[in-house]
Amino acid sequence: MVLFTSKLAASCLSLGIFAGAAQGQNITNDSYFYGQSPPVYPSPQMPGSLKWQVAHEKAVALVSQMTIEEKANITVGFAPSNGCSGVTGSVPRLGWEGLCLADAGQGLRATDYVNAYPAGIHAGASWNRDLTLQRARHMGAEFRRKGVNVLLGPVIGGIGRVALGGRNWEAFSNDPYLCGKLGYETIKGIQEVGVTASVKHYIANEQEDHRNPLIGGGDGGGAVGNEPTGWYPAVGNPNNYTVEALSSNVDDKTMHELYLWPFAEAVRAGAGSVMCSYQRLNNSYACHNSKAQNGLLKGELGFEGFIVTDWRALHAGVAAVEGGLDMAMPNGSTYWGAGGNNLVRMVQNGSVEETRITDMATRIVSTWYQMGQDNDFPSIGLPASYVTPHKSVRARDPVSQPILLQGAREGHVLVKNVNKTLPFKTPSMLSVFGYDSVAPPESNLAAPLGGYRLGFLSNYGFPWLAAIRYPFTNPGPIAPNGTLITGGGSGGVAPPYISAPLDALQERAYKDGTQIFYDAVANNPAVHAESDACLVFINAYATESVDREALYDDYSDALVINVANKCANTIVIIHNAGIRLVDQWIDHPNVTALIFAHLPGQDSGRSVVSLLYGDESPSGKLPYTVARNESQYNVQVAHPEGEFFRFPQDNFTEGVYIDYKDFDQKNATPRYEFGFGLTYTTFSYSNLATLIKQGANTSSTAPASRISEGGQDSLWEVIATVSATITNTGDVTAKEVAQLYVHIPGGPVKQLRGFEKVEIVAGESADVTFSLTRKDLSEWSVQEQAWMLQQGSYNVWVGASSRDLPLAGEVTIG
Ligand code: BGC
Repeated sequence: MVLFTSKLAASCLSLGIFAGAAQGQNITNDSYFYGQSPPVYPSPQMPGSLKWQVAHEKAVALVSQMTIEEKANITVGFAPSNGCSGVTGSVPRLGWEGLCLADAGQGLRATDYVNAYPAGIHAGASWNRDLTLQRARHMGAEFRRKGVNVLLGPVIGGIGRVALGGRNWEAFSNDPYLCGKLGYETIKGIQEVGVTASVKHYIANEQEDHRNPLIGGGDGGGAVGNEPTGWYPAVGNPNNYTVEALSSNVDDKTMHELYLWPFAEAVRAGAGSVMCSYQRLNNSYACHNSKAQNGLLKGELGFEGFIVTDWRALHAGVAAVEGGLDMAMPNGSTYWGAGGNNLVRMVQNGSVEETRITDMATRIVSTWYQMGQDNDFPSIGLPASYVTPHKSVRARDPVSQPILLQGAREGHVLVKNVNKTLPFKTPSMLSVFGYDSVAPPESNLAAPLGGYRLGFLSNYGFPWLAAIRYPFTNPGPIAPNGTLITGGGSGGVAPPYISAPLDALQERAYKDGTQIFYDAVANNPAVHAESDACLVFINAYATESVDREALYDDYSDALVINVANKCANTIVIIHNAGIRLVDQWIDHPNVTALIFAHLPGQDSGRSVVSLLYGDESPSGKLPYTVARNESQYNVQVAHPEGEFFRFPQDNFTEGVYIDYKDFDQKNATPRYEFGFGLTYTTFSYSNLATLIKQGANTSSTAPASRISEGGQDSLWEVIATVSATITNTGDVTAKEVAQLYVHIPGGPVKQLRGFEKVEIVAGESADVTFSLTRKDLSEWSVQEQAWMLQQGSYNVWVGASSRDLPLAGEVTIG
């Protein structure tokens, strides 16, 4: 395979894109931007190496019997007659029935008899690899039982560059290392049970606003002729000109060190599919971007599977084929044509080589063999509509129960706990407040779209399609109608039941004889003077398609303050779909405890009650930084402006400096730092030891080696290990997440490069060891187009959070 990315092109990309864009005046033609994303052609053929060899051979044998029409047909979607998010064409003549693709990463959405797992951000806050693996296995098994071939998840991008990002809750963390490791486990788990993971959204898809083009032409026709009126790409634009989707302008170094990093882990895990994103990347649509797809993903990372568009993200014909795209969803639109018939014409008129279409088909069919779907795969169990009678497939398995509950528990992060307020001993009276304490008033079928509300259960009054269609109405900062267990949009789940906090507290009160008062309605409720504690449940809502308006809301803040003014022991619990600020009241002397409860899925109440009462000690840590105020975050949501009004630009000038790397660089003090979380015991750290692995090759450039899934093999060689001892110095058993940070000379102050979650009995100790690979210690050199290991000393730290690092040492290379 040949890569045509020259070093010169890469460094131009790194340095030149912002300069070029500064000179235009009322730009009306896309040609202004040509060349900003380096061309990388041809599209590499599927390598079919190592782990994929058998599947590849079988696929080649099957695809070689297909006509060009049949090959084209399986690369595009068709209107599903079932509840799949998309279905591909089939080749019945050869017994190939096509694929069902369905959302999403927290559970199978919009259906019956499935579980609602904790969201990505919740799994991220657990920092628990094994639990994340289990979650994926159980979730994946449900997709399989419903006959879904391709699970549209996990989300590892957007990574959370913009604090207000509407979909940040779907991903694990805004740190690429943590996000990558948990993404890796998730893909392994899903695929182990025979379902293909389509990891998304590739790449630099960091905000929701302007994610799609706004097609001009008044009636919604415009360039995308076959879109249903009112659907996206956004139609209804009253102007006669098109506003293209936002362009994420990312330099080559930032791309490698931040946005591509988790995708490299995903490919390394064997991901069978990648979903390309809606927005433009360096002014070329992500799904046509040859640098991203041919160069980085299929070339540098040796990706074996197929690239599928995000839904309706196809905006070109030949350019998308040559740019490395393999499948268009939910259909071929005007570009690839119904049933892919335009692909056939492209071959016939000499625009495209048939080998490219063959490769697309081979990549798609290979994943089917690779996951063993040729062998007894269940038929599709998702009806198109749930509001009419249908035969239900029961996909839940009782063995998933402990995973759901433990997953829900471990994503809770306790960040304040004054005077051992928690855990409760035996409270005589509890007062419970807030709209988020109760179950939403309905969890029932409702038109439109199959009958489900797509994560808007607790935002019941909001006509949810309004958020997804032009003009993209914001559903507001909270879900006011009940406890929040998931966010909105295609990542929203369909719970079989909801364990609401108040229900679980009442159940506990029944056992303990506790008096419970509650008020889920008032903003300034009455408080009984004998309350041992007042629990205030609030939330922070977010949904696909729009970014959040703020990181706090006045209504919920007033509720907390009103209760705290009357109750000396006020405990706040926030179900937050993303970062939520707390400085409005965190120093109130009566706010004694705070839990970021994220999005726990169906076992929300049950899990938080087990933590409040100390049945288990909290063990989550923040997978992001909580600032003191919004202005502390360096990246804002971008909008069309000035000469770029028709081609909105978003220059990622901050490089890799997002979240804690930015706070560290500017020496700003957050409210709660990345990696922080309390529990009911204390830990001490000792015995730091660093070791260069015997015989490790520490040359600057990686030794020549094969490219297998994830990149060059030698990048994964372990070069050093760091170990430490953790002692539980308190009086209860608890889990600790030990974290390793490294300073790579010339890079951020510190970067997460290891984490281990260990349970330690009171008074006992545990040893943890972190392995550092060549890639972990390297920086991306734009000049060399390679990961380079520097000779010299690297500072390393081990501790309990990104700012609580009692152990410091050095790793010396060379
Ligand atoms: C979302 C994807 C999703 C797809 C199919 C799109 O709007 O961005 O994440 O998988 O729809 O439902």
